[in-house]
Amino acid sequence: MEERLIEVDFPLKQASLDSVHEKNVRHGHISTLHIWPARRPLAASRAALITTLLPDPGTLDDRKRTLEKLGGSLVEVEKTKKLPSGKAEVKLVEETRGGILHWGQEVSPDVEWFRDKIKEAYDGQVPKVLDPFAGGGAIPLEAMRLGCEATAMDINPVAWFILKCTLDYPQRLAGQRRPLPQFALDSTGFMESYFKGVGKKAKKQGREETQGRLFDTPDVDLAWHVRAWGWWVLQHAENDVQQLYPAVDGKVTVGYLWTRTIRCKHCRATIPLLKTRWLCKKDKKRVLLTMMPNGEKTGMIFNVQSDAPQGGGNSAQRREYDKRIGAGTMSRSGGTCPCCGTIMTMEDIRLEGKADRLAATMTAVVVGGVKGKEYRLPTSDELAHAAGAVDHVTDIFAEVPYGLPEEFIAEDAKHNTWCVPYGIDQFYKLFTPRQLLVLGTFIKYTRNARIAMQNEGYPPQWTEAISVYLVCMLDRLINQCSTVARWNQGAEKIEGTFARFALPILWDFVEVNPLSSASGGYPSALEWVAQVVRHLLSSTGAAPNPNVLRQSAIQVLSNGDYDIVLTDPPYYDAIGYSVLMDFFYVWLQRALHGLSSEIDGAFASPLAPKWDSQQNDGELIDDASRFGGDKAKSKGVYEEGMARVFLRCHKALKPDGRLVIVFAHKHPDAWETLVSAIIRAGFVVDGSWPIQTERGSRSRALSSAALSSSIWLVCKKRSPIARPGWDNQVLEEMEANIATRLRDFWDAGIRGPDFVWAATGPAMEAYSKHPVVKKADAANNEVMTVSEFLRQVRRIVVNFVVGRVLSTDGDERDASELDSVTTYYLLHRHDFGMADAPIGACILYAVSCNLSDRSLADQYDILQKTGGKAVQEDEGGEELASDDAETPEDDDEEEGTGSVVKLKTWQQRNRKGMGYDTESRSSPLIDQVHRLMHLWKAGDVNKVNDYIDARGLRRNALFIHLLQALIESAAAGSEERALLESISNHMAARGTAPVAQPTLFGTK
Ligand SMILES: C[S@@+](CC[C@H](N)C(=O)[O-])C[C@H]1O[C@@H](n2cnc3c(N)ncnc32)[C@H](O)[C@@H]1O
Repeated sequence: MEERLIEVDFPLKQASLDSVHEKNVRHGHISTLHIWPARRPLAASRAALITTLLPDPGTLDDRKRTLEKLGGSLVEVEKTKKLPSGKAEVKLVEETRGGILHWGQEVSPDVEWFRDKIKEAYDGQVPKVLDPFAGGGAIPLEAMRLGCEATAMDINPVAWFILKCTLDYPQRLAGQRRPLPQFALDSTGFMESYFKGVGKKAKKQGREETQGRLFDTPDVDLAWHVRAWGWWVLQHAENDVQQLYPAVDGKVTVGYLWTRTIRCKHCRATIPLLKTRWLCKKDKKRVLLTMMPNGEKTGMIFNVQSDAPQGGGNSAQRREYDKRIGAGTMSRSGGTCPCCGTIMTMEDIRLEGKADRLAATMTAVVVGGVKGKEYRLPTSDELAHAAGAVDHVTDIFAEVPYGLPEEFIAEDAKHNTWCVPYGIDQFYKLFTPRQLLVLGTFIKYTRNARIAMQNEGYPPQWTEAISVYLVCMLDRLINQCSTVARWNQGAEKIEGTFARFALPILWDFVEVNPLSSASGGYPSALEWVAQVVRHLLSSTGAAPNPNVLRQSAIQVLSNGDYDIVLTDPPYYDAIGYSVLMDFFYVWLQRALHGLSSEIDGAFASPLAPKWDSQQNDGELIDDASRFGGDKAKSKGVYEEGMARVFLRCHKALKPDGRLVIVFAHKHPDAWETLVSAIIRAGFVVDGSWPIQTERGSRSRALSSAALSSSIWLVCKKRSPIARPGWDNQVLEEMEANIATRLRDFWDAGIRGPDFVWAATGPAMEAYSKHPVVKKADAANNEVMTVSEFLRQVRRIVVNFVVGRVLSTDGDERDASELDSVTTYYLLHRHDFGMADAPIGACILYAVSCNLSDRSLADQYDILQKTGGKAVQEDEGGEELASDDAETPEDDDEEEGTGSVVKLKTWQQRNRKGMGYDTESRSSPLIDQVHRLMHLWKAGDVNKVNDYIDARGLRRNALFIHLLQALIESAAAGSEERALLESISNHMAARGTAPVAQPTLFGTK
């Protein structure tokens, strides 16, 4: 079977850099078409597809050339970043040059070159690529860009809709043009933007022509029609709702700031549940909401203070000062009544919420001023408009199919929808009445546009395509227009509902002006969507019609049709897609209704599918709430479901097809279960590339050890005549196979946990090429499990790394004799120093050393948990802050509960028995070093000498190398370094001890 490029080499660094960079680019990127959690970067998907579709060129030079054409070369450039203080910081940043992975390079002529090469590799045929968990469509889109026939499948109707918009409509209408509608031609504003957009120099001429209506009606592509009809919807909706958002003093409203309120159980005053009173907090702009009880002490009087004072002292003191002067009423214990000091506990608030007694009050208004945003109190007119909207909500929803979205919000085991316990249990409750009124109005015109298009003579295919993109604009607006949207006081911008993947209750929220062209309004939604359509038209045109299927991956039906299955499955309980995306489902159902029977069928049920126990099928996520809280059952059902999908994928692939499967690597145990299922399904695992797809939160100094967000596992079909293997032979083969690969990976600059992961795939081949691996020296046909095998692999890998760490003089060292705890310590110290380290990496290293993070913390006293919270990686690697900013519980970080750990310092490590053997185990070398440091510090040389001699440390080469390695990792000028150097010099001065001779009375 011909090897694929991905099985031999991969532009790992380039794919990672360009994937991370892609997170910063927005215009035209599919992530801005519609929200979907866990999107994979296009760069990583493109790189994985090309290297899987192309055979390995065979020679080192050819391979290098192809990889360079694909990933480009790496360069270091200086980047200047403006800090909040106004100062500029210059940083050296690594970037790619050339290649086709960087955002913007997808239009490079080299893409065409790769397309031709792929076709050549498939004897002129179009390769078929399947993604059974296609989600937001990154993988099938890239397959189409490369000229492949893509099949994209997802069980969720929202994802299916996004896939249709991403792959299907653009492909069908790519290259087609038709004249702009008359209303667009009649509009000076629209035509000006058109001429500007198409780069016509004759801007002036355009205007003259527009006014005189003299020009030829231009034939334009779908993207321009989408823009025109978005503009049509905006004009009509604006007509109806503009008066709800009056501009005061000629300044357009950006948004209204609200706080939820509750009645004090003691004095009955109305308490604002404010998390913060900061309205804007920048270095040079500090605006506070002030408040004081009214005369009757029944509620609060608010004011806006535009010149909040600066605190003095260092930055921590200034932070503390700001926290104090901006404190709201909410804390971890609940909401404090500013009138009488009574605390409404969280339980009180939940009870009031459930009884529908939580209210909200408008506190301030953000408007666009000449010199930026301004803050003021709401006028009585504005308060009246907000309050009056409620009278019209019923009327507007009477015109909308399915009416007001009264569907209940589901709860899951992870409490992703924790608005529900506070009484926000139906979707419409996530919106203010005015938001509902406006959304109802936009739905009405989005639907009416269809009829207007038909009247304009648009063919049905065009009407449907334009309509779906209008609905995407609507969904963008809905994301911004809920009470889960927050005001970002630092950036002075609105953060939409899914700034994080949860439906929380926000105590203070922002109500955006949907007509404003500031971010969050419909005009920007329109522009975002139109730009994506333009990108998609050029990306999909070279491919045949895609197949977009709304079905479960468990039901993949194919007998060997596919060349590649490349997919990114849901990972255990990482994301509750269906529960969260029902937020959009209910609106899509209403807005799309009647567009086609296929779409109506997709949105026929009240909400998206969860799990159907009778069919034993449904959304494959580990959510115990679907199994009566039974965690083990939920995990089992997920794993069994995934195993069934792998079997289907095996069947769907041609004999020499490849499966590439993307996994988060949260916990090695969970990962190993899935890999076992892949092997059982008939696959040989022969590659694994850890691609960083997220912006790292850590400093450049540690970037080499950054935990990549996902592992791309490469598998091929096992020979049907493969026979069982024996563990001793398999291990031998594995060691021989990975020896050179480890050197290659090391030389390629792969470090940290990535190094372990990169080595895992190639090592797995020796094991997984057998349907089963038996233990040679065990009775009863006992088999070697994947975990057992991987433990051996990882140990070899970490020994290799530690060997390098110990090679302070350049000579290679064998670290296989080093005890596990010291091995762990060196790995950790090498990658993360004494700073915070992500728990995921530490678990991996601990497991690799046959230890656990818990035993390292409790038993060996090496690790400590810190209060810090790591940037959480979801399965799609999207960066989610792990704190839920609105849970009152998170006001203060709890000590020792974070997902970040660090090494204990030598000073902290001073348990009584440390550095001495016990009956059951000998002391780890690192403990002996730390014991010696304490002895040295105490200043008694005799005790130092006794300790060194009693333990034979002068003739322990590993100990000497360890000392050197520790000296190099200790900070220059630190006490640690000074002590280590003193000990090392002292030992050197005393010389190597003679090898102990056995005597009549024992060893001397
Ligand atoms: C990690 S996401 C895929 C993200 C995608 N690669 C992207 O770039 O947007 C996993 C997807 O699996 C889908 N899914 C969950 N269970 C499924 C099933 N039984 N069949 C098909 N799709 C399923 C989810 O709806 C989700 O979209």
